[in-house]
Amino acid sequence: MGDFKVLSFMFLILVVMLLGVCHVPVAAEQKKKTYIVHMVKNQMPASFDDHNIWYDSSLKSVSESAAMLYTYDNAIHGFATRLTAQEAESLRNQPGILFVLPEMKYELHTTRTPSFLRLEENANLFPVTDSESDVIVGVLDTGVWPESKSFDDTGMGPVPASWKGACETGTNFTLKNCNRKLIGARYFSAGYEAAFGPIDVSKESKSPRDDDGHGTHTSTTAAGADVPGASLFGYASGLARGMANRARVAVYKVCWIGGCFSSDILAAIDKAIDDNVNILSLSLGGGISDYYRDNVAIGAFSATTKGILVSCSAGNAGPNAFSLSNVAPWITTVGAGTLDRDFPAFASLGNGKNFSGVSLFKGDPLPEKLLPFVYAGNASNATNGNLCMTGTLIPEMVKGKIVLCDRGLNARVQKGAVVKAAGGAGMVLANTAANGEELVADAHLLPATAVGQESGDAIRDYILSDPNPTVTILFEGTKLGIEPSPVVAAFSSRGPNLITPGILKPDLIAPGVNIIAGWTGAVGPTGLAEDPRRVEFNIISGTSMSCPHVSGLAALLKGAHQDWSPAAIRSALMTTAYTVYKNGQTILDIATGKASTPYDHGAGHVDPVSALNPGLVYDLTTEDYLNFLCALNYTSSEIYGVARGNYSCDSSKTYSINDFNYPSFSVTLETQVFGGSNGTSTSGNSVVKHTRTLTNVAGSSGGTYKVSISSPSPSVKISVEPDTLTFTKDNEKQSYTVTFSASSMPSNTNEFGRIEWSDGKHVVGSPIAISWV
Ligand SMILES: *[C@@H]1O[C@H](CO)[C@@H](O)[C@H](O)[C@H]1NC(C)=O
Ligand SMILES: *[C@@H]1O[C@H](CO)[C@@H](O)[C@H](O)[C@H]1NC(C)=O
Ligand SMILES: *[C@@H]1O[C@H](CO)[C@@H](O)[C@H](O)[C@H]1NC(C)=O
Ligand SMILES: *[C@@H]1O[C@H](CO)[C@@H](O)[C@H](O)[C@H]1NC(C)=O
Ligand SMILES: *[C@@H]1O[C@H](CO)[C@@H](O)[C@H](O)[C@H]1NC(C)=O
Ligand SMILES: *[C@@H]1O[C@H](CO)[C@@H](O)[C@H](O)[C@H]1NC(C)=O
Ligand SMILES: *[C@@H]1O[C@H](CO)[C@@H](O)[C@H](O)[C@H]1NC(C)=O
Repeated sequence: MGDFKVLSFMFLILVVMLLGVCHVPVAAEQKKKTYIVHMVKNQMPASFDDHNIWYDSSLKSVSESAAMLYTYDNAIHGFATRLTAQEAESLRNQPGILFVLPEMKYELHTTRTPSFLRLEENANLFPVTDSESDVIVGVLDTGVWPESKSFDDTGMGPVPASWKGACETGTNFTLKNCNRKLIGARYFSAGYEAAFGPIDVSKESKSPRDDDGHGTHTSTTAAGADVPGASLFGYASGLARGMANRARVAVYKVCWIGGCFSSDILAAIDKAIDDNVNILSLSLGGGISDYYRDNVAIGAFSATTKGILVSCSAGNAGPNAFSLSNVAPWITTVGAGTLDRDFPAFASLGNGKNFSGVSLFKGDPLPEKLLPFVYAGNASNATNGNLCMTGTLIPEMVKGKIVLCDRGLNARVQKGAVVKAAGGAGMVLANTAANGEELVADAHLLPATAVGQESGDAIRDYILSDPNPTVTILFEGTKLGIEPSPVVAAFSSRGPNLITPGILKPDLIAPGVNIIAGWTGAVGPTGLAEDPRRVEFNIISGTSMSCPHVSGLAALLKGAHQDWSPAAIRSALMTTAYTVYKNGQTILDIATGKASTPYDHGAGHVDPVSALNPGLVYDLTTEDYLNFLCALNYTSSEIYGVARGNYSCDSSKTYSINDFNYPSFSVTLETQVFGGSNGTSTSGNSVVKHTRTLTNVAGSSGGTYKVSISSPSPSVKISVEPDTLTFTKDNEKQSYTVTFSASSMPSNTNEFGRIEWSDGKHVVGSPIAISWV
């Protein structure tokens, strides 16, 4: 009971956070909302010979005036339309209607990565064949700035014959904007416009053009061409390249100033499947719900069963537990870690103390002498005066001074703009407990540095205790070789998985802090209206940035192993990911300063060079995913809602998530309480078995693999049977069973372990998370 309350509370937080950023839609049609109507296509009455006419007639039977926003053929069978709640209810009772689900709004999860990932020194390991250039990465985002040098198609061969997509034109976007690199560009606005009214083309482009920057950043991270001499104001200078620098890019603009709407996202996935993309990258997320109500999960299911790998951001709601989005087991869920690169900028105080921070500020430096220093909380009459919210600083109290602002609520760069507007000379941005020691560098509009919580507290103490506090900020450019790295970013969303506790998420982490990639020419690097600067590259952070790293790496693997399924590619990325530094210490979590766990980093940090040759993979078929839905006890309607095929679970069979062939292990055990009216748990043993099947992808030489197990603690015993697996043929399959015997532990206890299979050449690792509920 208690645990359930915690869970629903966490869920509420998520929902509230999402609603918190919602804009109030303009009521274009009174009380009408967008609904996505899922139809059972094979129940079409014989009197119809076209399903579109049938959909239309079903809709007309409840609303004469309702317009079809979209009809869907691949991602789901059905359509999107505008209905009143009452019309939606009567539509639900029509024959052939599976679900009538209200639209959901999603939000974006906002050139040294290749060498950090050891891609550059190992470039020759990736076969230089035409196969990578036949891989098409589809990116659902804010569109694209086609003039970015990352879309230069010099030297690229003809567009792959498999491509069936299009280059859609519109505001500031013509056929000339597509080429052999950026092979496709579409936009989807019907759902957005139905909710917000017609797009105002003086504010945003009704075309694939990116007015925001996010989509240009993600698509160039995944598959941008090499651009030598890239930098942001000289920061992070060097070669900028996408992960799959020879692959093709197809962009699907689904996010607008007012958000990303599920009817548009579903339409984009529907088209991307038809267009024949190989990889889909979605750096966005929304409220989490059961898979049959989650349009991204539903669309991703169809894509996966057609051989398309779908990679999604895990969300930026960390470091809270249970904060993940995009957790369906057919999606690759990507969290974020840091790089070994930093942008130091020191806050040097009048008392001689010196605190390190980070910044991407470029502009006139501060005067040599120390400047007066004021805490924003003492220069404002607002309750949240310390946060430097718009209009809260009293100009007379900040003029010519450096202002200490606390992080939280409004955008970091916005705080700088607020200080600047009030006449401040500079800003020190202090983390609070919510962000701990995590530092995200920004291209501030005024001299500014961001410091961690400990430094922030010390600096605040200094201001409040010194009668005449002073400070200056010293910028030191780009520093490489920062250790330890990676560390898990505090913002990266964390497990456990709220929807299916038996599936460990996130799957892995990838670089997502201070990432440089292409940018739009429509706004400056801060994205603020008051920022007149224009840049070709920008440095930003988020799981939005880590997701396209994995999308691009998946494209590299797809190019190298064209016959691998999406599950095989994900398995290769996961089982070769690393969880420890070279010195053997576990990857740290910056939120706690302690070792991270599989709930933070999943299988670990991606290592593409090892992923190229994983030895063995955990593969999954469409039937495995359907059996998974059976194991969830989904009704046949719910299964149809996710998977469409007319699949019924066999009532004589027992389905178990424990045997779902996932490359990681998540074991939930019940805390057993015996006797004792005091409610204390006493001993009691649980035994749980998980079966897995490994497929040899190392060719006919195969190998003999031995298992090694690291058990978390004496309270859990892990054994594997058999403990040796021998493969002699390509694609040969061998199964094993893991037995977890655990004594009862207090609820909310978590333990972690690891299983590794090795033949001396390959290491096939899987994380284990055990939690007592
Ligand atoms: C179209 O592009 C031109 C030149 O790049 C720019 O001046 C104009 O503002 C753009 N229009 C829109 C709606 O983005
Ligand atoms: C502040 O400290 C850093 C590293 O500890 C050092 O590089 C820098 O020169 C110091 N600056 C001042 C003004 O003391
Ligand atoms: C400044 O703010 C702090 C706490 O926010 C408060 O304790 C202190 O009294 C204030 N100082 C002045 C001079 O107002
Ligand atoms: C802030 O509060 C002080 C004291 O109540 C008042 O004198 C002053 O006018 C206020 N300033 C602003 C800008 O509201
Ligand atoms: C599905 O139902 C079976 C039998 O009632 C039960 O043992 C199992 O725990 C259920 N699975 C889930 C995921 O709820
Ligand atoms: C599945 O097929 C049966 C028989 O063909 C049909 O009656 C049923 O409606 C179908 N269910 C779904 C969800 O398609
Ligand atoms: C609670 O009850 C159990 C069994 O009745 C007993 O062994 C244990 O000592 C009790 N614990 C406390 C804290 O009273």
